[in-house]
Amino acid sequence: MEYEERYLHLNERIDVDSHVICKYKVTTDMKMTTAAAAIATEQSTGTWTKLSTLNEDNFLKRSGKVTAIDGNVATIAFPVEDFSLDIGGVPQILSIIAGNLFGLDALQAVRLEEVVFPKSMLREFKGPKYGIDGMRSMLKRPTKPLVGTIVKPKIGLTPKETAEYVYEAGMGGLTNGKDDETLSNQKFCPLIDRTEAIADAIDRVKSETGHVMMHAINVSTNGHQVLEVAEMAQDHGATELMVDVLTCGFGAIQVLAEDPSIKLPIHVHRTMHGAMTRNPEHGISMNVFATLARMVGGDALHVGTFGVGKMKGSAEEDLANKDICLTKNLPYKRVMPVASGGVHPGMIKKLVDLAGLDLQMQAGGGVSGHPGGVRGGAKAMSQAVDAAAAGIELDVYAKDHKELAQALQKWGSA
Ligand code: 6PG
Ligand code: MG
Repeated sequence: MEYEERYLHLNERIDVDSHVICKYKVTTDMKMTTAAAAIATEQSTGTWTKLSTLNEDNFLKRSGKVTAIDGNVATIAFPVEDFSLDIGGVPQILSIIAGNLFGLDALQAVRLEEVVFPKSMLREFKGPKYGIDGMRSMLKRPTKPLVGTIVKPKIGLTPKETAEYVYEAGMGGLTNGKDDETLSNQKFCPLIDRTEAIADAIDRVKSETGHVMMHAINVSTNGHQVLEVAEMAQDHGATELMVDVLTCGFGAIQVLAEDPSIKLPIHVHRTMHGAMTRNPEHGISMNVFATLARMVGGDALHVGTFGVGKMKGSAEEDLANKDICLTKNLPYKRVMPVASGGVHPGMIKKLVDLAGLDLQMQAGGGVSGHPGGVRGGAKAMSQAVDAAAAGIELDVYAKDHKELAQALQKWGSA
């Protein structure tokens, strides 16, 4: 490759305040330095040969720099001035750090493992409006994990049936409900009717018991509609909004988080992430998406089930996602990490032991599949969370808690 040596800055000190620093795991037959230089050039000056148009003075300022090679991991620093946040934003960031490089024929595989942004860029984003502390205060739940459900079946229920599910969940003690990611505005469950019916159910729970809960209405849609749909849901009584961040784009979160008319927390779902995050050799690590989701203002984010639930993921990877939600190294409110996918009451102690109390547990089938129905399942989940938060083993707690005992009998414990 021509110019290769110009991209290599292996023994130089790189100013972390003026670069976006990315780590790429690379599978290649080439020398690692050549492969890394190919990534750096494709993603900055952007071609493979000497150019008549390249200005030598600007070359160093604009080009990505390979700053370290550690085994098969290359660190590349992109100059901050290559990024355009006023117009461009996260889409433009991704087109640099996670763009054409994935298609380079010379690499068999490449995975973006990590990104660190300089403070000057982080300051351009506002982060969550509410985050963990805001959600806890709305739900009057200062320390225990939040405990929620995804209404199941994921599609097919009417607004009335959905609201009844949420009512039963609230009566069983759940703090959170949410639409599933494929539920939108289908004829059998129109968004406005569903939102109103659920708002009424949540009000009934509050007036009958004093218990507060919220339910995230799925407002995922085309970019030009998302603000309008979110406002509509809010006007009809929504208590939280849900957005599928990878199918909608990060701008869908950012526009809702930054628009002053939207007063609701945003639950960030990550459907489709497995296409990019699952292959350990190729794609994009979830922790990159978690960083961006926090920057653009998600209040709660799916991080996986720490190797315990039904979705692929390891404790190590999912704990790293959780740490990004909570780290003080990012200058924003903390994001509520959500554990969802195949969760049932028997897993709760293990999840809390692994990930701590700042967690939102969520079960769909693990609530509505309970022998005591949704209310029984909600009670079992709430009891499991109470036990775990108090450091009590589930089988011990189940001796005095019938619904938890039924759940453990049906699904066992992790
Ligand atoms: C979600 C996710 C997901 C999951 C289920 C949970 O919406 O929270 O898509 O993580 O697969 O919808 O359903 P179960 O609890 O029944 O597995
Ligand atoms: Mg789902």
